Amino acid sequence: MRKVLLAASEAVPFIKTGGLADVVGALPKYLDKEEYDVRVILPKYACMDASFLPQLRFVCHFYVNLNWRKQYAGIFETEYRGIKFYFVDNEFYFAGPSPYHNIYEDVEKFAYFSKAVLGCLPYLDFVPDVIHCNDWQTGLIPVFLRTAFGDDRFYAGIRTVFSIHNMQFQGRWRIKEVMDITGLPAGIFSATGLESYGEANYLKGGVVYADAVTTVSPTYARDIMTVEGGEGLSGLMCAKRNRLYGILNGIDYEEFNPQTDPYIHVNYTHKDAQVGKKRNKAALQKELGLPVRDDVPMIGIVSRMTAQKGFELIDYAMEELLNTLDIQVVVLGTGEDKYENSFRYFQAKYPRQVCAHIGYSEEQAHKVYASADVLLMPSQFEPCGLSQMIAMRYGTLPIVRETGGLKDTVEPYNEYENTGNGFSFANFYAQDMMHVIQYAYEVYQEHKDEWMKLQLRAMEKNFSWSSSVKKYEELYDKLCDQ
Ligand code: ADP
Ligand code: GLC
Repeated sequence: MRKVLLAASEAVPFIKTGGLADVVGALPKYLDKEEYDVRVILPKYACMDASFLPQLRFVCHFYVNLNWRKQYAGIFETEYRGIKFYFVDNEFYFAGPSPYHNIYEDVEKFAYFSKAVLGCLPYLDFVPDVIHCNDWQTGLIPVFLRTAFGDDRFYAGIRTVFSIHNMQFQGRWRIKEVMDITGLPAGIFSATGLESYGEANYLKGGVVYADAVTTVSPTYARDIMTVEGGEGLSGLMCAKRNRLYGILNGIDYEEFNPQTDPYIHVNYTHKDAQVGKKRNKAALQKELGLPVRDDVPMIGIVSRMTAQKGFELIDYAMEELLNTLDIQVVVLGTGEDKYENSFRYFQAKYPRQVCAHIGYSEEQAHKVYASADVLLMPSQFEPCGLSQMIAMRYGTLPIVRETGGLKDTVEPYNEYENTGNGFSFANFYAQDMMHVIQYAYEVYQEHKDEWMKLQLRAMEKNFSWSSSVKKYEELYDKLCDQ
């Protein structure tokens, strides 16, 4: 039995700000339980879902040395759907209303978390063969493993995987302060180690020190080796190409299933999707105060409101789209003020066409996936993207830009060959996006049969974890056998 410990800063159902939480919550469920004992370790945030607190059991406590600081660490555990989750407790670091705050606080918080993950292992009945780290928040785990813990035989056999979910967030801060926080020797902060453009870079640490590096789609693995997509680290990624793997995320078929989804108005399958979606749409229109009409296509957006997700294009195109097409736009998201405010404005100006829910709501997200006809996701870059896959499972056709995981999951409609499961455009231009929205509008209005076939193909495409978990299993095996 191989032992794998997944370390991350968020996981469903305990704490979620984005797709990382979905992935960390789902991947362990789908790995082969006969072959792999997979457990997850997270921070015990004050803002985690409080309904789980009574179930947490105290396991042990110890102290983490961060240079001159000596910080308490408590370990709690619980089981959720057959998976053991550990939580690192420290109320100084993990207080506050969200997992992430200012970067200068976060670099200390996650240095502490990374060291605590390694420090707790002698106290658990579980010595992992592989620690699977995720994003910059856990980038120092491979670094500490080979430095601070490098002489300790207890840790000698542990291998590490570092997964990049988003290259844009690297955990960068002043070298002097990171040295003070971590106690890592000055030699580590060099061009071959943690240093990047004069700063300490946690993501780079993960990439340099881990035994294998993955990212969340094959196209994004190629994108980050280019100057345009590499966020300053394309040279490093090219140098590591022999141990860089692009493994496409799946979605959790138990969580996102229109047949059983408890949040939506009416459940449905691919067999009765036409009726099911129509009834969900009517219920949502009524709930949101939009005119209840089936003949008007509803465009849904469920997204963090950031430049990454293409809000520049959406902002630019909205007025023209609303003035020229008979459409409804339903937005659910939070993020940068300028995007939130522009949607408040569109809603005020076009109340019969736009509904903006500025906030975070799992229930509302499921309702939009089930009710909309189209999901708009014109990302500037997209490591994988889960929303487009969730939408397809609900028979909602994605309109995406061809980048990263969007390119790997959405096959554009080809009216001559009768293929495809969505719509896409290549260049990051608002006009190109508008053309493809107009095209989708035409297909929706004038070629109902084709639209239904597209929906069916989208719903039947397999976006479960079944094939991707095998790739992670192969990678874990390869590292253990080395
Ligand atoms: P990212 O992780 O870059 O934000 P993904 O597409 O990988 O993008 O994952 C986003 C996840 O977060 C999806 O599960 C999506 O449904 C969810 N989500 C995004 N915004 C909201 C919101 N405002 N309310 C509820 N869920 C949201
Ligand atoms: C990141 C990416 C997103 C990806 C998610 C899960 O948040 O932005 O594209 O789907 O991580 O891997």
